[in-house]
Amino acid sequence: MPSYGSAGAGKGEVIRITVLVSGGGSNLQSIIDACGSGKIDGRVVLVISNKDGVYALQRAAAEGIEACVVDRNSYENDEGFSEEIMRLAKEKKTDIICLAGFLKKLKKNIIKEYPGRILNIHPALLPSYGGKGMYGLRVHRAVLENREKESGCTVHIVNEEYDRGPIVLQRKVPVKRTDTPEELAERVLREEHRAYPDAINIISRKLQ
Ligand code: GRF
Repeated sequence: MPSYGSAGAGKGEVIRITVLVSGGGSNLQSIIDACGSGKIDGRVVLVISNKDGVYALQRAAAEGIEACVVDRNSYENDEGFSEEIMRLAKEKKTDIICLAGFLKKLKKNIIKEYPGRILNIHPALLPSYGGKGMYGLRVHRAVLENREKESGCTVHIVNEEYDRGPIVLQRKVPVKRTDTPEELAERVLREEHRAYPDAINIISRKLQ
């Protein structure tokens, strides 16, 4: 794993984080807040959304963080789309890329450029309830249908398979018999907001 000094921040400098989003961006906010409070020794240097008009972009603007839209439809294939994200991340001397509700797949080119340094958060205890098509309320519905007693969230390193990379950390929550998918989603999301900053710290320490 390359040292984070070689990627962007020099020794004694903070970790430079690029966050990829597609929606509301509450995890983005938790990362920004953790940087602000000193829980993460880092800074969000760039926010990239694949969709225009999402609330995550407003959050970035409110924090004075540079943000842009990279629309998958503007590229011939996933490689071209990933290449552009990689170019922007490198331009910002990014050390760690965090997928926070980002719904597009990244290809080998960017994964190779940032080995072990691209993270994703998933709202279930992987390897259960992951994979293609498992996102949003679908995950929580499936957990409830199977009458699981617990669920939670997982932060993992991104590889080329959906939700299959090495797990950095997991946090559990109880599932109540009376839960609606929305109620369970909310309980899991609260844990996500603690888990992502912790996972970033684990990876940051490895890079130093
Ligand atoms: C979270 O539940 C995350 O686990 C999943 O997408 C959701 C994003 O929420 N990957 P937000 O945009 O961070 O609020």
